[in-house]
Amino acid sequence: MTWDELEKTCLGCTKCELCKTRTNVVFGVGNRDAEVLFVGEGPGESEDKQGEPFVGRAGKLLDTMLAIIDLDRNKNVYIANIVKCRPPKNRDPLQSEQDACIGYLRAQFALLRPKIVVCLGRIAAAKIIRADFKITKEHGVWYDKNGIKFMAIYHPAALLRDPSKKPDTFLDLKELKRQIEATCDHTYD
Ligand code: URA
Repeated sequence: MTWDELEKTCLGCTKCELCKTRTNVVFGVGNRDAEVLFVGEGPGESEDKQGEPFVGRAGKLLDTMLAIIDLDRNKNVYIANIVKCRPPKNRDPLQSEQDACIGYLRAQFALLRPKIVVCLGRIAAAKIIRADFKITKEHGVWYDKNGIKFMAIYHPAALLRDPSKKPDTFLDLKELKRQIEATCDHTYD
């Protein structure tokens, strides 16, 4: 399946109830050749309206965090979510919704073949790294699965709620940059 075929299928998805309340499916954004994949939990209100991940307040902070380590959604990363449609009132996506949707992320992963995957927050880390992932203890820690490197950092919305988490996240971003320099081939300049 090509990227365009996958996107078209995803945009017409009716696999779970979230299709009934969504405005737009939020498929993903970024460079489809990127070596670094960021994964959030699911679209919020702004994302649902615009059809693009991380475009609200948390998204602006994510862009700033990326810029600190020379990453840019228009250049050298790909950004997607566990669920592609907004859960009503921004509740956590249900396990059944995550299970219905995860095939799209798996297909994105197969097309992208990233070298590094960064989970944004506990929900993404629990789905991708380990069900009982503890974000407060395990943020910034590398996990290797079949030669691919996985790490979770705090979700930017958590940093907006609790700025005392920002210094830890700054260190995690520095570690991410080190790993990118050690692992990735492209420079994208
Ligand atoms: N939070 C997420 O996890 N994903 C988005 O796309 C926006 C906010």
